[in-house]
Amino acid sequence: MKKQNISIKINNEKKEISVLPNELLINVIREEMGLTGTKCGCGMGQCGSCTVLIDGNPVLSCLTLALTVDGAEITTIEGFERSDGTLDKLQESFIDNSAIQCGFCTPGMVLMGSDLLSKISSPTEAEIRAHIKGNICRCTGYYSIVRAINNAALR
Ligand code: FES
Ligand code: FES
Repeated sequence: MKKQNISIKINNEKKEISVLPNELLINVIREEMGLTGTKCGCGMGQCGSCTVLIDGNPVLSCLTLALTVDGAEITTIEGFERSDGTLDKLQESFIDNSAIQCGFCTPGMVLMGSDLLSKISSPTEAEIRAHIKGNICRCTGYYSIVRAINNAALR
């Protein structure tokens, strides 16, 4: 198979890369770009740990062909902090509310939480739970994650 060139903007940086037609976005992000904050849990669209934002919308990078993001703007957890290098209020809230244990689900949870807060500034608990229902956490029991998103909305 022949590689093809694509242009993307990832975490505000423009990149020209060559990808195979069957190459998954998660592998390009993690292995070629070294952005290992994006996690691969199941590799089949079931856990949400590979979530990234593409043109502002959450997408499962394990189900996305890299070729299809030509021209897109991608945000991974590495691009989520503020421009001065400090943590975003949602990341701070995850820490303050003990919503991180092993941390494997955290990048996907933070990106989904941010997507929710961009649409609903003050979500109910039910809305938070509905929005993160595709993201699996094996450690926290979800309560602290819901509380972190809720408290971030109040900051
Ligand atoms: S690794 Fe993509 S949904 Fe699980
Ligand atoms: S903190 Fe371990 S999977 Fe969520």
